[in-house]
Amino acid sequence: MILAANLKVNHTRTEIKEYTKSLETSLTSKKTKNEVLVFPNISGLDNYKVNNFTVGAQNAYPTKSGAYTGEICLEQLEHFDINTILIGHSERRVLLKESNDFIKQKFEFYKSKGFKIVFCIGESLDIREEGISKIKDFLYSQLDGIDLGYDNLIVAYEPIWSIGSGKTASVEQINETLDIIRTKFSSSLLYGGSVKATNIKEITDIKNCDGVLIGGASNEVKNFIEMIELI
Ligand code: 13P
Repeated sequence: MILAANLKVNHTRTEIKEYTKSLETSLTSKKTKNEVLVFPNISGLDNYKVNNFTVGAQNAYPTKSGAYTGEICLEQLEHFDINTILIGHSERRVLLKESNDFIKQKFEFYKSKGFKIVFCIGESLDIREEGISKIKDFLYSQLDGIDLGYDNLIVAYEPIWSIGSGKTASVEQINETLDIIRTKFSSSLLYGGSVKATNIKEITDIKNCDGVLIGGASNEVKNFIEMIELI
């Protein structure tokens, strides 16, 4: 199983250092068979030289360096030996208006650099209410043009209506939707959206679920460690 913590813009740099240190200590003493990924905010990125999990970036501009105010690029990630990236999170799609085309550019660029890419897709509540055929069309449109045979690709299905809302999709909804995505793609498939210690087991037991992408419930390192140990 893959357990990924998306820390969003929570924590200071000092707190992220403490977070990574606690996580490394815990995973050193209690080995896990799970693959663990942590995505800190930009200011928390560093070369952590950890052995038991991977640190990735929540976003980066698709270029080596240049005039892109406020962004980070390949050069800064390489400096920290970071080669894992989250692309297409709905918070960037919705709040920052990132288009499918721009997200594809990021995918192409970081794929060409061999990055592990966690590629996020997910429908809004309006689309969910239109039924499964509309959901399918929408999710496929988000995957359109993405090389689904890329070895280092992980797809994360995160229905927007369940992110940070405490409203987890039901096991039936997750199962049905992951089945639909799975027909397109054979590498790892994650679910994200209000995953927590009390529901992680039933979610990771779903047939096509290879792991979870956790937001709020991973903010406290002890909670994230508890979830890693539950799986
Ligand atoms: P929550 O777990 O807080 O719902 O966030 C999910 C998410 O957006 C992970 O990328």
